[in-house]
Amino acid sequence: MIYMDNGATSYPKPPEVIEKMIDVITGYCANPGRAGHYMASKTAHEIYKSRIALARLFNIGDPRQLVFTKNCTEAINLALKGILKEGDHVIATSMEHNSVIRPLRELERKGISTTFVKCAEDGSLEPAKVVEAIRTGRSTGNTKLIVMTAASNVTGTKMPVEEVGRIAVRNGILFMVDGAQGAGHMDLDVRKNHIDILAAPGHKGLLGPQGTGFLYVRSGIDVDTLTEGGTGNRSCEEKQPRDFPEGYEAGTVNAPGIIALGTAANVINKIGIEAVEEHERRLTEKLQRGLEEISGVCLYGPENTYRKTAVVAINIEGMDCEKAAAMLNDKYGIAVRAGFHCSCMAHRTIGTEETGCIRICPGFYTSEKEIDEVIRAVREIAEGR
Ligand code: ALA
Repeated sequence: MIYMDNGATSYPKPPEVIEKMIDVITGYCANPGRAGHYMASKTAHEIYKSRIALARLFNIGDPRQLVFTKNCTEAINLALKGILKEGDHVIATSMEHNSVIRPLRELERKGISTTFVKCAEDGSLEPAKVVEAIRTGRSTGNTKLIVMTAASNVTGTKMPVEEVGRIAVRNGILFMVDGAQGAGHMDLDVRKNHIDILAAPGHKGLLGPQGTGFLYVRSGIDVDTLTEGGTGNRSCEEKQPRDFPEGYEAGTVNAPGIIALGTAANVINKIGIEAVEEHERRLTEKLQRGLEEISGVCLYGPENTYRKTAVVAINIEGMDCEKAAAMLNDKYGIAVRAGFHCSCMAHRTIGTEETGCIRICPGFYTSEKEIDEVIRAVREIAEGR
């Protein structure tokens, strides 16, 4: 199979990640933080090494501020529901994924107000529109948070993370980034970009296993817990501890997944995030230029591949996107995702709210030959062959 669905989850995983998972499960995997014996201590130590590897990748000063979650959605829910209070106002963009939109809609029922800033048709955001949406003033100045995806999961459009981070700092507002499509694909330096809160999946660009993700919260930000239970610390206290990270990781964690995620982060640390980004950009450039030449193929998102991640969204004239995706699978063995990609607002923004689109996502391990195969297949389908 030619795998072009890396926006949903990356495949294949680096060999080091697979070896690590086997090593953990067969070698020592006990319950971290729950006992002092060798196996439990070794598991806890390896998990801590994963925090360090991820902290290095995102330039996070204190690895203990990084909480492991089961995916990015859980990390986003923990942050939004743990930080926002009745009366607060939040700014988001019209390119957000449902993992941001749906918790915010839920929070609206609890007295939190939202503004979704409209992005342009290629998914890009004008930072001045964020400034306009800020509610200022002594009594009405209730904008607490700006939450924004680093890059769209529909078009790959990169958002102006650094500029919006500066706007947040100037206005004393918290800045949260949904790194679902950015982490492992582009540089997300929390200090340079003034990111107070970063949510990310482990299984997409970071090349780790499914069932992993994390939330980073800058020290000093008050967060309510989402799940209460055993933490391995302060066992005689009945109230949930608010210690980072244990207080926010109640219950037994996914140790093999988290440890393997640390290995994956180190694979990226070794290559360098800029080199990963440029490699994926070249693949995207080849794919995009090839598809552009096919008559009847309509492309969405920025033309310039420096302004996007490895996501190419298309439609084939006169053909339902799900049907085209099924043909790519059945006839050519090519895996893509078609439809609305859990991002209804993004589809309204780019004008595909009626049709949806086909999303083609190469990944770090995609070859140029595979890109040629995809272009050939789309050409044949578009020409009705
Ligand atoms: N959020 C993932 C996607 O965009 C699953 O496909």
